[in-house]
Amino acid sequence: MSTPSTSGLSPSQFRSRFPIVNRRIYVNSCSQGALSTDVEAAMHEYAESWHDGGSPWDMWVDKVEQLRTRFAASIGADREEIAVMPSASAGINAIASALSFGNRSESLFGADDRSHVVVADFEFPTMAQIWLAQQRRGASIRWARAAGDRLEIDAYERVIDERTLIVPATHVCFRNGHKTDIAALTRLAHTRGALVFVDDYQRTGSGPIDVHALGIDFMVTGCLKYLLAAAGVAFLYVRRDLIDRLEPTVTGWFGRVNPFAFRIDEIDWPPAATRFESGTPPVPNAYLAIAALDLLDRIGYEVVGQQAARLVERYRSRAKPAGSSSERRASRSDAGRSWSSRASTHPSWFHIWRIEASSHRAAATACVCRSTLTTARTMWMPSWRRSRPKPRCSSERPD
Ligand SMILES: Cc1ncc(COP(=O)(O)O)c(C=O)c1O
Repeated sequence: MSTPSTSGLSPSQFRSRFPIVNRRIYVNSCSQGALSTDVEAAMHEYAESWHDGGSPWDMWVDKVEQLRTRFAASIGADREEIAVMPSASAGINAIASALSFGNRSESLFGADDRSHVVVADFEFPTMAQIWLAQQRRGASIRWARAAGDRLEIDAYERVIDERTLIVPATHVCFRNGHKTDIAALTRLAHTRGALVFVDDYQRTGSGPIDVHALGIDFMVTGCLKYLLAAAGVAFLYVRRDLIDRLEPTVTGWFGRVNPFAFRIDEIDWPPAATRFESGTPPVPNAYLAIAALDLLDRIGYEVVGQQAARLVERYRSRAKPAGSSSERRASRSDAGRSWSSRASTHPSWFHIWRIEASSHRAAATACVCRSTLTTARTMWMPSWRRSRPKPRCSSERPD
C-alpha cells in the first residue's frame, strides 16, 4: 500500500484545493472527479515540458513509468503487474483477446475445457459488451441475476461451475452503489477454477485496496472519478503468475520488450503487464494522474474511506424523510453499500472534499424539488445533453 507523505493534509485542507466546491455542491464524482489546483498545475507542467523540450520523449516515457510505479503502490501491486491503458475498455479487451474459449489445447487450465463467462446485472455496459463480443470467439455468457438492487454471492454461486473461465465483476455498481464482496466472490470462483476480473472504476481512490490480499486475477480502473484526474488514462492489473501465459491479439509497439527496437519481422512479449499495452502512452494524462495520486497520498486512502463512510452515514440519516428512490435506497441500513448513484434523481458519491456541512446541503438538495434537481443536473450533465428537449435521468447517460 502507498505510504502517505509526511506533509499530510487534513480533510479541510484537502477540500481547499478544489475551487469548485466554493461555487457548487459537487455531486458528480461517480462520473468525473472535481479539478484540484494540483492537477491544474500538472497540466501547466506538461505544457511547459513541451515548450521547453520540444519533444522530450525520454522524459515523457519516464513520467508514464513513474505513474505505473505510483499506481501499483496505491493498490498493493508490483509495478510489473500494471499496464497503463487509455481506457478501462482497452484493458478488458486486451485480456479478452488473450483468452481462448473452450479450446483444450490453448486453455490456460491445461486439460480444462472452459468457455463460460459469468456476467452479472450490475456491470458497467463496457464490461458486459466486451464479453458479449467474445461469443463469436466461442465464449458462452451465463448471467448472475440481481434481486432488485441487491446482488448476493448466491447469485454467482448458482452459475459459476467447472465450465466457467472468467467472472468479470464490478466492485461498486455504477447505477446504485451496490458493493460486491470481492473477497468472497474470489474465493468462490477460485474454488471452482475460474478467474476473477474486477472493475474497480467506481471505487478506486475512495478508500484503500490491496489486490494481492484480495487474490484477484485482473483489475481495471481509471483516473477520472475518485482518482481525481482526467479522461484518457486507465490501468490494468494482471496477477504476476498469469502474465506470461497470456498473449493478447489486441496489441501494438508499446506491448513489446523494447518498443524502440522498431522490429517489423518479429513479435516478442515482455515478462510484465506492459505486454497488454498497445500504442503511444497517454503522456499528458500521466502528469495529471501523478499529481492526483500525490494529493491522495497526502491525505491517505484510509482517511478518504473513513470520511466517505461518515458522510454516507450522515446523508442516510438526513435523507430518510424525503422518500425519493435515491433516499429510500440511502436510508436502508446496509453496510455493504457505498454511495454511487446515477440511476436515481440525485447522482452522487461522497468524496473526501465533502465536509459534513456540504453533505447536509447535498441531502437538502436531494430532498427538494425538480427545479433544484435541474440545478444539480447542470453540474454534471454535459452541454450536448443539456440541449436535449427532455433531460433524461443519470442512468441513461452513456458514460
Ligand atoms: C464501473 C465502470 N467501468 C468502466 C467505466 C468506463 O470505462 P472506460 O470508458 O475507461 O472504458 C465506467 C465509466 O463510467 C464505470 O463506471
